Amino acid sequence: MKNNAISRRTLLKGALFTAGSVIAAPVIGQSSKTNSVIGSIPRIVPSNAQNISYGPAFGIAKLNANENPYGPSPLALRAMEEAIKMGSYYVQEVPRLKQMIAERNNVTPEHIIIGSGSSAPLQWLATKVTQEGHILGPDLFWDTTSKMGSMNSEYGIERLDKTADLAIDLDNMYNNITSTTGMVQVTNPNNPTGLPLSPKALKSFCKKASKKTIVLVDEAYNELTDDPDANTMIPLIKEGYNVVVARTFSKIYGLAGMRVGYLIADPEMIEKISSFGLGDYSLNQAGVAAAIASYNDETFLKYSKEKIVEARDMLQDAVRENGLKPLSTSTNFMYVDLGSLNAEEFRKEMEKERVLIRGIYQDYVNWSRVSTGKIADVKQYIRALPRVLDRMS
Ligand SMILES: Cc1ncc(COP(=O)(O)O)c(C=O)c1O
Repeated sequence: MKNNAISRRTLLKGALFTAGSVIAAPVIGQSSKTNSVIGSIPRIVPSNAQNISYGPAFGIAKLNANENPYGPSPLALRAMEEAIKMGSYYVQEVPRLKQMIAERNNVTPEHIIIGSGSSAPLQWLATKVTQEGHILGPDLFWDTTSKMGSMNSEYGIERLDKTADLAIDLDNMYNNITSTTGMVQVTNPNNPTGLPLSPKALKSFCKKASKKTIVLVDEAYNELTDDPDANTMIPLIKEGYNVVVARTFSKIYGLAGMRVGYLIADPEMIEKISSFGLGDYSLNQAGVAAAIASYNDETFLKYSKEKIVEARDMLQDAVRENGLKPLSTSTNFMYVDLGSLNAEEFRKEMEKERVLIRGIYQDYVNWSRVSTGKIADVKQYIRALPRVLDRMS
């Protein structure tokens, strides 16, 4: 006991010198007399506290990462407040979250692997499949986890040729599956294009292609489409097709910073993917609490989607009014054809207006991606647009 007391004092003293100032904060429920010395909890304020920033700075319209600033939902916020008090313990509620996801999708908890964002299990999957073959994808798709997962493999990503309309050519994809294909990856709707595939065509592709290789359908933006139930490929998994579907709490749920996402697949496949990552152990108390609290919060989900659709309509109109051509989108971002303008130069000019957007993807030099955000941030983009175009012309 004595040793503990000493080491705690030493620790606090050390903190005094290393972390900045120590403030005596009153202990709730104790009298101010006892608070003064013994009955107080030293609150350590880091010396750089004024520089800590958990979101975009005031006046910055952050429209570059497909986040949804309408989350976290009020229920998620309340749940997180409770959960962080138990931050000293490892997370124990992952089975509950799996059960909820399983019930909604008519699968079992064994069909589900949850990780730190869908990025984590997507990367585990990419590591697994690139032990045996390439990942086949369209020319343009959200390839971050496949790049990372195949980093130490002799196999990598094989891309199909561009299409004129930037859509994913499923027939060409099917025809390019070979003996060295370890997986095909379809992002639906796609990122950065925002384009959805016809559910009928995708379903038929999945059925055919999954007889030859693993089919991954990344449905990060599914809930933002016009008909999420028709667009999801999850039912194929129960029907026995070799399909893996990725979903995330980062988009419609507005929990990108809380890092929760998951894959649904056949239990045998889930077990194989599990051996390439930390699984439940990669999760944190607050993220899991937020996911559980908001998963079935229909009021919030409706509100979230309405705001995103409102912002996306505003962006579409404004871009057209300024003579640019946007692709139609089923997501919380939009891909815009800038004509003769360079998308990286456009990004830099927008940054001068305190608007953050994406620059060039691969060799799509005249295409610019802008995310929806708070309506005020979207208005900032819209106000800046004619000024930037004027400067660049
Ligand atoms: C298509 C797609 N999949 C997955 C992700 C990763 O999201 P997260 O790791 O936050 O679940 C993103 C991120 O933008 C994405 O666009």
